Amino acid sequence: MVFEKRCSRVVGIGGTLRRSSSSLGAPRRALSAAEEAGAEVELFDLRELGLPMYEPGRALDDYGPEVRQFIEALREADALILSTAAYHGTLAGVTKNALDFTQFLARDERPYLAGRVVGLISTSGGERAAANTTDAMVHVVHALRGVVAPQIVTIGGARKRFDDEGNITDEGSGRRLDSLGRLVVEMAEGLGPDRGCGDRGSGDRRAEAVGVGV
Ligand SMILES: Cc1cc2nc3c(=O)[nH]c(=O)nc-3n(C[C@H](O)[C@H](O)[C@H](O)COP(=O)(O)O)c2cc1C
Repeated sequence: MVFEKRCSRVVGIGGTLRRSSSSLGAPRRALSAAEEAGAEVELFDLRELGLPMYEPGRALDDYGPEVRQFIEALREADALILSTAAYHGTLAGVTKNALDFTQFLARDERPYLAGRVVGLISTSGGERAAANTTDAMVHVVHALRGVVAPQIVTIGGARKRFDDEGNITDEGSGRRLDSLGRLVVEMAEGLGPDRGCGDRGSGDRRAEAVGVGV
């Protein structure tokens, strides 16, 4: 179906501090599918964002406008696409540090990532580390009270599956990223507040979302 107006807000977080990062190119592709499915999307490139290390007790206003924007985007998100590189068998420090900033959402009505669906992606040099890494991210998302989307995209052997600009070239992986992008939109419409989008009632959308990925 074609949505009359944009419904869910899907926020992507990805990338390492490496230029042309594969873990940035992967969520870019997934978000593009989410946008085609009718969502409003925003991608935070962790290299560009340049977050300092999260410092307990430091006020949000002391971090600068980009960090405030990042937190506000997370607060408003219905769904997230979280993508990391595998570093030493788990998520990269830059990704974990970004997630530590959700501490600023701890006292919200929807604390941390509560009520948000989170699609997970990992890229790795070897074939296996990406899977271990997304396993670790499942625990992080559960600790943050998010709902892990039941499709997880792991892309091992990243060097041969992305081009020099960090765009996915492997069509099989690309299709899985498209499918993840669409899935988080469908699930967000079922879980999130009814924004009055499209021509169906929220009850219908909820019923459909329950069947997603089963
Ligand atoms: C510090 C560091 C640690 C890494 N550790 C692993 C690892 O444990 N297993 C693995 O398969 N690849 C590992 N890699 C390779 C990265 O996962 C791989 O190059 C990934 O695609 C990089 O993501 P990026 O393109 O977003 O920077 C490591 C790379 C770096 C720089």
